[in-house]
Amino acid sequence: MNILLVGSGAREHAIAKAIKRSKKPTNIFCFASNNNPGIKELSSNYKIGKITDTKTIADFAKDNNIDFAIIGPEAPLEAGVVDKLKEQNIPSIGPTKKLAQLETSKSFTRNLLRKYNIPGGPKYKYFSDINGVKEFIDSLGGNYVVKADGLMGGKGVKVSGDHLQSIADGIAFCEELIAQDGTFLIEEKLIGQEFSLLSFSDGNNLAHMIAIQDHKRAFVNDTGPNTGGMGSYSDSDHKLPFLTNTDIEQAHKINQATIKAIKDEFNEEYKGIIYGGFMATKNGVNLIEYNARFGDPECMNILSLLESDFVELCLAIIKGNLTQDHARFAKKASVCKYAVPIGYPDNPIKNKIIDVSAVENKELIHYASVDMKENELYETGSRTIAIVSVSDSISDAELIAESEIKKIKGPLFHREDIGTEELIEKRIKMMADLRK
Ligand code: AMP
Ligand code: GLY
Repeated sequence: MNILLVGSGAREHAIAKAIKRSKKPTNIFCFASNNNPGIKELSSNYKIGKITDTKTIADFAKDNNIDFAIIGPEAPLEAGVVDKLKEQNIPSIGPTKKLAQLETSKSFTRNLLRKYNIPGGPKYKYFSDINGVKEFIDSLGGNYVVKADGLMGGKGVKVSGDHLQSIADGIAFCEELIAQDGTFLIEEKLIGQEFSLLSFSDGNNLAHMIAIQDHKRAFVNDTGPNTGGMGSYSDSDHKLPFLTNTDIEQAHKINQATIKAIKDEFNEEYKGIIYGGFMATKNGVNLIEYNARFGDPECMNILSLLESDFVELCLAIIKGNLTQDHARFAKKASVCKYAVPIGYPDNPIKNKIIDVSAVENKELIHYASVDMKENELYETGSRTIAIVSVSDSISDAELIAESEIKKIKGPLFHREDIGTEELIEKRIKMMADLRK
């Protein structure tokens, strides 16, 4: 089988490893944005280009007799790469541009959920100017979130009490978005614990993945600026220690109802991954946002634990006969930690040599934003290397990840607290207090 992989971060490195573990003989053709030595080693052909250049990607696919494509990041979905491949009769794991609005337009998703009576949405209102903004914020008791409507690379959301210290701050951010010609949503601020619950979808049937918690803030104890995600963990029972079975069931139901709503709305099947970013609150599970792809770092936890054959799973999505049995996971815990350049995310140092030779288990390495020049590995200013470990408990997995990530040499840092008992106890206590 010839498989096209679009993207070249740690998420795509995890995908490439999962493809290569399949019983089916495969050739990977990677259309990459950077020189990732981990993916390159697993690929038959590795081409660097603009991952939003749909025509070049479709030509690359045709030239290489691709059987199907897997799209890693959101930018090529938004650019319509799945639509372009479809014109060549090449199926993809990833939705068409129209269906990817689930991620690319926050108002689209909120309106879809409202129209189809899907529970779990906070109060919200859509704005394209400042009229009524203050009144709506007041009606939420000053607990609110401002969200730019489109993709903003994680910079489009500001939360009261967190980034916005007063109503005047909130209005100023809205004015900023209006000046950029942007439309935005104001939402009720949800209080609780965030978790990710992703499902594979063939358009009708879902196969759910394990629950995972990501860590968005740059520094220990959830301080510092927001990042793409500094690391993540999952537990051996596939639910997180602060979640109930009902929370998991609610998240499954919301994902299932959304896929059905998409089909009813567009008469088109959503094939790929639906990634729910949820908040467990005292009143049950709420949806914060949807993504139309694997999470990064969540993908590393998920695929490190996947016991079933990933290529068979992709084929079931394409054929439309997906069952939960296609996505079976080891009853183990996992911890993923990212090493990132000093100064990340605001002022990262760039193009410094890093050295992974001291890492004992090289299988745990997932390369992200790196470059390889004259046999030297360089960081390129963003999340650099993810270490992912699997063990019987979260604490055991954390010890392994921590000891290995420390062996990477170079001007990098990571969050020592991800997956530690101390941090997890805090999450459990927070939820227990809320539910009282
Ligand atoms: P998003 O880009 O929608 O994932 O938002 C980024 C982050 O903002 C989320 O991971 C949450 O931490 C926070 N956030 C977004 N919406 C809400 C909300 N309604 N209530 C509380 N926090 C939110
Ligand atoms: N885990 C955050 C993201 O993939 O968007």
